[in-house]
Amino acid sequence: MAKKIILDCDPGHDDAVALLLAVGNPEIDLLGVTTVGGNQSLDKVTYNARAVLEKAHATDVPVYAGCDRPLTRPQEVAASIHGETGLDGVELPVPTRPLEDMHAVNYIVKTIMENEPGTITLVPTGPLTNIAMACRMEPAIVDRVKEVVLMGGGYHVGNWSAVAEFNIKVDPEAAHVVFNEPWPLTMVGLDLTHQALCTPEAQKQIESVGTPLATFVSGLMDFFRKTYQDNQDFVDPPVHDPCTVAYLIDPTCVQTRRCPIDIEIHGEHTLGMTVCDLRGPEPSADECHTQVATKLDFKKFWDLVTDAIERIG
Ligand code: BDR
Ligand code: CA
Repeated sequence: MAKKIILDCDPGHDDAVALLLAVGNPEIDLLGVTTVGGNQSLDKVTYNARAVLEKAHATDVPVYAGCDRPLTRPQEVAASIHGETGLDGVELPVPTRPLEDMHAVNYIVKTIMENEPGTITLVPTGPLTNIAMACRMEPAIVDRVKEVVLMGGGYHVGNWSAVAEFNIKVDPEAAHVVFNEPWPLTMVGLDLTHQALCTPEAQKQIESVGTPLATFVSGLMDFFRKTYQDNQDFVDPPVHDPCTVAYLIDPTCVQTRRCPIDIEIHGEHTLGMTVCDLRGPEPSADECHTQVATKLDFKKFWDLVTDAIERIG
């Protein structure tokens, strides 16, 4: 049976690829998309999510707008990476499906409470504001969610500071809530996603699909490459967010290591750090509800992305 997921995102070039992988892979049942202010303002990323779904002919997937700013801090966007629109570098189709009326946090709570326990997986690929709000609004969701597989953090590296990753750094209080709830949580952090580089070969493989959607993804990657070269000292851009969906489709694509994780919310130099305790032997699932992603199967990953683009047509 396909895995039922809610993708909570802030598109964003790599969020867009995560959306396409979720739409195009038959192992995933994308129930709904929720958006959160992150890479750009809430209005912009919500429009982008709807436009990407339109481009993927996925007008059956509802989109719900969520929180427009972090829990306690002023909003900080990633225009240096994703541009002024949040999806600079491509032309977006005008979305035909209207935005849903309901707030994303209400949708997340309602969906989890109305479905059988243990059937819904949350896949956050932006700041964790909506997910933290949902936990506080209806604490009963925590026991009912199957698992949380999120993009954020890193056990050795940062990108928004020496030790903190963007999604966690911009709303560390929300991350603190989400990581400290006792649900099974997989942190797909920078250690893993920096292996998901869109090399020229990977991009050519996508282009070889030969559809307008493949050209669209290649255009996204061109822009993403340029900003990563200019601002993050990368040669090829790391395509972070779809690694979460790839892990759900095929767990052999992403190796993991169980370890306690907590979020630094007080540090002067370490704010938003995902502090991972990798000492000693690996704990069991009974002892520890969190794990980090460690190693990506590069070929499997890009084959999954290419296959999804091909299936969408
Ligand atoms: C994360 O930050 C965003 O810019 C990307 O979309 C990704 O979710 C990487 O640090
Ligand atoms: Ca993102």
